[in-house]
Amino acid sequence: MERDIKIKVRVYGQEHVLETYDGEYRNLMALLYDRVYIDDFGECKGVGRCGTCHVYVLKAPASLVFHDGVEHTTLSRLDNTNDTSHLACQIMIDKNLDGLEVEVAEERGYGY
Ligand code: FES
Repeated sequence: MERDIKIKVRVYGQEHVLETYDGEYRNLMALLYDRVYIDDFGECKGVGRCGTCHVYVLKAPASLVFHDGVEHTTLSRLDNTNDTSHLACQIMIDKNLDGLEVEVAEERGYGY
């Protein structure tokens, strides 16, 4: 399977370019969890409740649609959010993500 989805990710000041394909990972959190080591990332395993997968979307392809769902409630509990804040576990991986650029927030989640 050709990895035709490229996503740029900045983590602790380092830039990574991750390549994947539709169906390899369910969501952006799972991709980051697997490919880039980030402390305490994805604690609730994608339920959308912990906030530890908080990312800033720096550049979003025009075709990308964000699904609000539980995201808004969880983000409202965090201090360091802004208009570009999203939960990586609520961003599903498909071809619309090609060209996405995100930065992982340094302070994430509220823990348990
Ligand atoms: S993994 Fe917990 S909110 Fe995304």
